[in-house]
Amino acid sequence: MMPAETITQVAYLAASALFILALMWMSHPTTARRGVRCGEIGMLLAILGTLIRFEIVHYELIFVAIALGTAVGVPLAYFMPMTAIPQRTAVSHAFGALAVGLIGVVEYYKYADSVAPWSFTTSALMFEMLLGFLTCTASLVAFGKLQEILPSRPLMFKGQQVVNVLVFLAAIGLALAMIVSPSSTYLFPAFVAATLLFGVLLVAPIGGADMPTVIALLNAYAGLAASAMGFALDNKLLIVTGALDGTSGLILAIIMCKAMNRSFTNVLFGGFGQLAAGSSAGGEDDRVVRSASPEEAAMRLEMASSVVIVPGYGMAVAQAQHKVSELYKTLSAKGVDVKFAIHPVAGRMPGHMNVLLAEADVPYDRLVELEDINPDLPQTDVALIVGANDTINPAARDDPNSAIAGMPIIEADKARSVMVVKRSLNAGFAGIDNPIYYNENTQMLFGDAKAFTGDINKELSEGGGH
Ligand code: TAP
Repeated sequence: MMPAETITQVAYLAASALFILALMWMSHPTTARRGVRCGEIGMLLAILGTLIRFEIVHYELIFVAIALGTAVGVPLAYFMPMTAIPQRTAVSHAFGALAVGLIGVVEYYKYADSVAPWSFTTSALMFEMLLGFLTCTASLVAFGKLQEILPSRPLMFKGQQVVNVLVFLAAIGLALAMIVSPSSTYLFPAFVAATLLFGVLLVAPIGGADMPTVIALLNAYAGLAASAMGFALDNKLLIVTGALDGTSGLILAIIMCKAMNRSFTNVLFGGFGQLAAGSSAGGEDDRVVRSASPEEAAMRLEMASSVVIVPGYGMAVAQAQHKVSELYKTLSAKGVDVKFAIHPVAGRMPGHMNVLLAEADVPYDRLVELEDINPDLPQTDVALIVGANDTINPAARDDPNSAIAGMPIIEADKARSVMVVKRSLNAGFAGIDNPIYYNENTQMLFGDAKAFTGDINKELSEGGGH
C-alpha cells in the first residue's frame, strides 16, 4: 500500500495543477464556472492530503474548527450581497493572513531555542510573519473603510511618512535581531506589535476609491506570506499556491492601476478618494438639467438604430440586471443594435458588471470593453447609463484638477444622445460632481434603476413610445 506521505504528496501535486488550471479557466467568463469547480476540487484534495499527514495526532480540534468555519462560511456565501464582496474579500484576507502569522508564532517558539543563528527557517518565518501580520491589520482597515465603519477619506497626520518608515524599520530591525539570535524571544512581542501597527499605518492614508487596488495588493502580500510559510514548513503546496496567489494579486493590482490611471506609488501614498472640495456640486450655478419620463425614454430607444448601455454600481444596488437584460432583448427584437460598455472598475469589484449581466443571460459577445467601445460612441444614437457615474465622468478627461483626472472613462458624452438612470444628481464613489448631467444632449431618468428600467420595458411592450 502507498504510504500516507506519498498519498499526501500526490494530492498536493494534483491540487497544484488544479489551481493553475482554475486560474487559467477563471480568466474567461465562458470557462469561469469550470475554473471555480476545479479550484474547489483542488482545495478539497489539499485538505484531505493534509488531514492524513502523520504529524496529526488528534482530530477533535480540527473537526471543531471545520464545523465552526462551515457554520460561518456557508451563510456568508449565501447571504452576502454582491455589493459587499470587496469588504468580504478584505475580511477573508485578514483572517487568512492572521492564520499565516499565528502559524509563524507557533513555529518560532518551537524552534527558538534550538535553531542556529542566520538560519533559512527563521528568516522565512520572520518574512512570513511580517507580511502576515501587516496584511491582517491592513485588510481590517480596508474592510472598515469599504463598510464605512471608518471614514473612507485618507486618514493622515503630520509626519506620517516618517512614522511609517520608523515603524517599518523597527519591525525589520527586530526581525533581523531574532534571525541573528533566535533565542531572544523577549523581542518577539515588540516585533509583532510593530508589524500590526505598520499594517494600520499603511492603509489608513489611502482613500476609498483606491481600496480595490489595495485589496488586490494585500492579496498578493497574503500569497507571498503563505509561500514563505511553505519554505519554513517545507510544504511544497503552500509554496506553489502562495506564489500563484501572490502573482495573480499583483497582476490584478497592476491591471486595476492601469484602469484607473494610477501608479503604485500613488495608490500607496496618494489621497485619491477624498471628497473633491474644489469641484462644483452644482448648487449655486444655473446649469440646467433635463429629465424625461419612461415613456419618452422608451420612444427614444425604440427610434434609435444603435444603443450602448453603460451599467454601473447603481445597477448592482438596484439588482436591475434582469430588467436591463429584458430591455436588451426587446430592443434587439425590434432591430436595434444594443451593446454593453464595460468599464474595468465599474461597480465595486473587478468583473462586477460581467457577473451580473451573465447572471441575467446577456450574451457575452454583447459586452464590449472600454478601449473598444469608445471609438463607436460618437456614431451611437443613445448611450443609456444605468447607475454608472465616475466611470462616465468627462471631468476625468477634461479637468486636470479633478480628483479622478486621467482615469480612463467610457466616453458616453460623445454619443448623439445620453440618458442617465439614477435617483438624483448625487455623486458616485469618488464623491465628485459629474458635468455630463448638465449637457444639452443628456436627459436624466430619475428613479431606481430596477423600477425605471421596468417602466421602460412596460412602455415598449405595450407599444408605447410611438
Ligand atoms: P459610482 O460612481 O459609484 O456611481 C454609482 C451611482 O449609482 C451613484 O451615483 C448613484 O446615484 C447610483 N445609484 C445608486 N443606487 C441606485 C439605484 N438603486 N438606482 C439607480 N441608481 C443608483 O459607479 P460606477 O460608475 O460603477 O463607478 C465605480 C466607482 O467605484 C469608481 O469610482 C471605482 O473606482 C470605485 N470602486 C470600484 C471598485 C471595482 S474593482 N469595481 C471597487 C471599489 C470602488 P444616485 O444616488 O443619484 O442614485
